[in-house]
Amino acid sequence: MTAAYETLNRLLAGETPSAAELAGLLKAQGKLRERLYAAADQVRSDKHGAAIHLRGIIEFSNVCKNNCWYCGIRCDNPNVTRYRMSFDEIAETAANARKWGCGTVVLQSGDDPFFNAETLSKILRRIKTETGLAITLSVGVRTRKELEIFKAAGCDRYLLRFETTSNALFTAMHPDESFESRTQCLQDLRTLDYQVGSGFMIGLPGTTLEMIANDILFATRLGLDMIGCGPFLAHPDTPFAGKPLLEDRSVYYKAIALLRLLNPYAHMPATTAFDALEPEGRNLVLRCGANVFMPNITPGKYRSMYQLYPNKPCVDEDGAACAICVRGRIAGLQREVGTGPGHSIRKTADASK
Ligand code: 5AD
Ligand code: FES
Repeated sequence: MTAAYETLNRLLAGETPSAAELAGLLKAQGKLRERLYAAADQVRSDKHGAAIHLRGIIEFSNVCKNNCWYCGIRCDNPNVTRYRMSFDEIAETAANARKWGCGTVVLQSGDDPFFNAETLSKILRRIKTETGLAITLSVGVRTRKELEIFKAAGCDRYLLRFETTSNALFTAMHPDESFESRTQCLQDLRTLDYQVGSGFMIGLPGTTLEMIANDILFATRLGLDMIGCGPFLAHPDTPFAGKPLLEDRSVYYKAIALLRLLNPYAHMPATTAFDALEPEGRNLVLRCGANVFMPNITPGKYRSMYQLYPNKPCVDEDGAACAICVRGRIAGLQREVGTGPGHSIRKTADASK
């Protein structure tokens, strides 16, 4: 038996392999790779069943004060027409999320100073009162005080990726932030009793398999309620323009499968970037560990202006089309649409141990 087979067996027996061992599994091909995907799909099925939770994502502002090297809406990109949705538009879109069967609405934007504690809490309160949906925010690093205010206004969950555990790479590509401020924010979210989601981009320029393995282990150590990861895709209007994809595309999927094996209870979305990688990308991720789908419900007219990476799918669609399309995908996978808010099962599961 090869070393990588042995690592997979130990992983399935509940051991956490070293970064070097995980890097070995990220190289898996052929039968071993199929076994890895099947094992991850089995764990997903055992812990989460057939339900795929729908989280409708509203990209409500593409204004951003930051200049991250990978991101298409960075403030220095002059080719972006900036927009902010009005309070009414955001509330109406959230009402659609409910109508279309989403248990959660995810509010995402650039790091836009207009949407501060005061404005965002007004929106959160309104959505909570009008829809009763679970609400997730994804608006960048915020102070503990702001996070407290969002929580009091009805926010249940928060997404903030750490992007990479390489301090050198993090510093280089985030001119406006430090790794410490991100991890501090993740810590604050945890102590404020949020359901916390984080993750990283797979295959950032210069990353080795060992670095991806370290990112997987770090995400696991964070003990997350939600883990969102996707391929890094070079945007032409950024300093990373032209950077290639990983030569072995299956590494993106193997990373998700390994995350599932190490984090049985975490909710894991099939992130949109997988569809930009290849047309069936999100479907494939749903078969190697993912249990959440985030249909884009942003009104059609704004979609082309919110391109963090190129080839983003569905930019010419509207929310209703995405809501219908997702049901077809789920049926095609012989799975079911999740009902209810789809809250974290991690805490419940831990408590029963
Ligand atoms: N490729 C892939 N993912 C990206 N993101 C931002 N830019 C890119 C890109 N070029 C991801 C980041 C961010 C999330 C909202 O989108 O991980 O946290
Ligand atoms: Fe907007 Fe990074 S470019 S937060």
